[in-house]
Amino acid sequence: MRSLFHKTIGFCLLGLAVVSCQDKEDPNYQYMPDMYESVGYETYGEYEVFQNGQEAKLPVEETVPRGWLPYEYQDTPQGAADAKANLKNPLAYTMDNHAEGKQLYTIYCAVCHGDKGDGKGILVEREKILGVPSYDDAGRAITEGSVYHVMYYGINNMGSYASQTSTEERWQIDHYVMSLKDKLEGKPEREFEEAGAQENLLPSRADANIYDDADDVESGQSNEKNQTEIQE
Ligand code: HEC
Repeated sequence: MRSLFHKTIGFCLLGLAVVSCQDKEDPNYQYMPDMYESVGYETYGEYEVFQNGQEAKLPVEETVPRGWLPYEYQDTPQGAADAKANLKNPLAYTMDNHAEGKQLYTIYCAVCHGDKGDGKGILVEREKILGVPSYDDAGRAITEGSVYHVMYYGINNMGSYASQTSTEERWQIDHYVMSLKDKLEGKPEREFEEAGAQENLLPSRADANIYDDADDVESGQSNEKNQTEIQE
């Protein structure tokens, strides 16, 4: 009885000694630290475990990312001339595309080109940038194709918008720019078209959500299957 009493006191003291060593400023002891210390790889790190020795994988050859299509015209005077003459807007001129284009134009272009496209944006008025043309500049005679080309590669003082906008967004802006040009030239407003099958030619940002797709195709079906199995 007595030894049990001593043992209990002993355990209590030992427990106290262990607990009192804890320092709140320091990380505590870790039991099975796998969950604390991640074994994840550093982005762009070099690791032998990967086939090409690096964490970042290259895209599979002959594939393109969703939401992106290769642009066939070169960044040369010849490429610009070809795009100007031949490249057409694949999006229907719908009210939605026009509205979307207006919004994007206001975000990306209006600071220089002005809300009306007359080349009198706020940066021009404050003399931060020079030489911004009006869209009805006869010498330039812009076309759907030339506008897209310029957004893709940029031109002199104007940077490229290829990394900030998707293919679809650039074509929406393009519609809006051409409507500003018409207005500046005093032409009647172009009538809106119905959304046609053409619109599906372009992969949109929404298609780029692989998780949505995976849901529909795989887990959607397998869930159903699981459910029926349970019911049976
Ligand atoms: C930082 C100011 C700036 C912004 C922002 C800007 N531009 Fe420009 N843009 C210019 C300048 C400067 C030129 C004239 C370049 C030259 O020819 O030297 C130009 C020229 C153009 C031209 C005429 C090109 C040609 O064929 O001669 C078009 C079309 C155009 N921009 C469209 C756009 C669109 C669309 C956007 C938005 C996505 C945009 N710009 C954003 C400054 C800007």
